[in-house]
Amino acid sequence: MAGFNHLFVPGPTNVPEAVRQAMNVAMEDMRAATFPELTLGLFAGLKQVFRNETGRVFIYPSSGTGAWESAITNTLSPGDRVLMSRFGQFSHLWVDMAERFGMDVDVTDVEWGTGVPVEIYAEKLAADKEHRIKAVFVTHNETATGVTSDVAGVRKALDAAGHPALLFVDGVSSIGSIDFRQEEWGVDCAVSGSQKGFMLPAGLGFLSVSQKALAAAKTAKHFRCYFSFDDMIRANDTGYFPYTPATQLLRGLRVSLDLIAGEGLDNIFARHHRLAEGVRKAVDAWGLKLCAKERKWHSDTVSAILVPEGIDSAEIVRHAYRKYNTALGVGLNKVAGKVFRIGHLGWLNEVMICGALSAAEMSLRDCGVKVTPGSGVGAALEHYRLSDRPAIAKAA
Ligand SMILES: Cc1ncc(COP(=O)(O)O)c(C=O)c1O
Repeated sequence: MAGFNHLFVPGPTNVPEAVRQAMNVAMEDMRAATFPELTLGLFAGLKQVFRNETGRVFIYPSSGTGAWESAITNTLSPGDRVLMSRFGQFSHLWVDMAERFGMDVDVTDVEWGTGVPVEIYAEKLAADKEHRIKAVFVTHNETATGVTSDVAGVRKALDAAGHPALLFVDGVSSIGSIDFRQEEWGVDCAVSGSQKGFMLPAGLGFLSVSQKALAAAKTAKHFRCYFSFDDMIRANDTGYFPYTPATQLLRGLRVSLDLIAGEGLDNIFARHHRLAEGVRKAVDAWGLKLCAKERKWHSDTVSAILVPEGIDSAEIVRHAYRKYNTALGVGLNKVAGKVFRIGHLGWLNEVMICGALSAAEMSLRDCGVKVTPGSGVGAALEHYRLSDRPAIAKAA
């Protein structure tokens, strides 16, 4: 098909041209004397994105799932009690991983379309006088349902109970795109991956840890090898890795961190909010609903849009891909066939979003959903026309 394929799945996201070019380099010696000139700056740059001041960041040649595994195996022991909640495919998979590692998982199931049940966590933490709970898990942004949860609220619940459990956050589809403050919120293990807000291909798993998590790793009993903090620290401290790093991805990461620093994290968060609001205006104008039940759950990186009864959302996604060369996200697990998703994170702007909305609107109509032609796209256009862009983006 002529023209671009339009990528609007919630990861992998669009890779900026400058990042692509930075990765188009010859292979290099990862033991070269000059290699740390690249890598030490990457660790420092990642800490800024995670807003981690006193801890450190590990970069694994894995996807985000590897960083989940690293967090669990380095800081916890088999049989440890952990507090988790499940409200979408990714929170489900993290629970599944913890169970497979033999953790004693106290899981609260809540309705898909809602998020981490902070009040229930608060009650359980307050009741746990013997401090049997060793870690509390938060999926910051549930990519399957387009729900953002309140990490700071969970921190408050831990503090109110005077509870020493570690706080784990899955920020795969939030960190670098939505406000996240590791140091301020006392997050001990924050997980992300290269292919979403970091605007890179998949292939790097990031785990940003606190000093408390590093201390926990000294006594934790899970077996670990590939993801071992100790092995990583020994090599990383001098700018090297315990095994072959993905050098081209690291070259790309240098440029993506520069782009993030250049735009400024707060401007990036504001841009994502503005773009997401345009999508939400479109959904309203179509007369459809988000899977996220209330405004407080609305995600600024992905919208999961419910389709009317009797319509298969997977067909809308298939059709948009075949006929309009546009990749939208399918519904996963419990919401398969019920929602389609628009990823609005990473390297994108208003007009790109309007492209996604155009393809979605045409596909909705082609698949029998009665939406007024131009309604969603028009609502988004007016929102973008009339609302302010973040200051620095405006000046650029
Ligand atoms: C919230 C969330 N957590 C975890 C993952 C898994 O990450 P990966 O596919 O990079 O292993 C994803 C992937 O989309 C995700 O969206």
